Amino acid sequence: MASIPSISQSQLFLNKPQFISTPKPSVFMKPISNPSQSSNLFVPQFKKPVVAAAGTAAEMAEEKSKKRYPGEGKGFVEEMRFVAMKLHTKDQAKEGEKEAQEKPLPKWEPTIDGYLKFLVDSKLVYDTFERIVDKADFPEYAEFRNTGLERAESLAKDLAWFKEEGYTIPEPSSPGLNYSAYVEELSKKDPQAFICHFYNTYFAHTAGGRMIGKKVAEKILNGKELEFYKWDGDLSQLLQNVRDKLNLVAEKWTREEKNHCLEETEKSFKYSGEILRLILS
Ligand code: HEM
Repeated sequence: MASIPSISQSQLFLNKPQFISTPKPSVFMKPISNPSQSSNLFVPQFKKPVVAAAGTAAEMAEEKSKKRYPGEGKGFVEEMRFVAMKLHTKDQAKEGEKEAQEKPLPKWEPTIDGYLKFLVDSKLVYDTFERIVDKADFPEYAEFRNTGLERAESLAKDLAWFKEEGYTIPEPSSPGLNYSAYVEELSKKDPQAFICHFYNTYFAHTAGGRMIGKKVAEKILNGKELEFYKWDGDLSQLLQNVRDKLNLVAEKWTREEKNHCLEETEKSFKYSGEILRLILS
């Protein structure tokens, strides 16, 4: 399970809400073949000397088949996680590598109105994911029904609570509408890209999403813990079950399809970042 960092670490990013930055384009799909020669961001640098490879076609084919993508040995979820973690800034997560934004950042002042917009748009997105897996245009989507990670119902309860407290629940706004439409479209024609969004949306919420929820609650909700941040049962087990299913689904994909899925991670950050930004609106 993703660890939840200490408050001091989360405080750091909450003073600098860098989820508003746009990821820089980068290459995700280069396997680790010869680490000491590669300048790829994701390739660890070893001090091992380079052994000149003057190979026959057969040797080169064998070399190619031995290439490892970061995380590949542990299964495809580890590959998706590796790419996602690199798209965080250092302030957001220890493994982050993305440059922080240079322009001045708005002060971390969440408002109830902004948070309500965030919850409404998040619900729209989770409604969309959960409808898609129920409908299962591609048979593999059906694996992801009733995983216990579903969030639409808990968000509906939270919004009902806010309503009882006298708040007006806003209509969904463009970040949620755009993301929902994008995911719906992808789901019909591009299962690998859809699965990337599915993974990032559900897993990010259990990690950074929870940290953000806790800080917002402390600041503007008197510490009230919303249903959005509660799961029935053992969350780490629920996550592991979904990881296992994702790994099984991806086992049937070609390397090209896997790379296509990994490449979609940046879009996931872009769309989710726009929804997160609503908290400060
Ligand atoms: C302010 C924004 C964000 C913060 C502070 C944040 C922070 C974190 C932290 C602390 C972790 C846990 C790292 C660990 O396992 O030790 C994490 C994991 C992760 N984050 Fe984020 N994150 C943010 C935004 C995002 C976004 C926008 C996405 C993609 C939509 C995302 C995707 C993920 C994924 C996939 C993981 C791995 C979860 C797992 O292994 O279970 N994060 N994030």
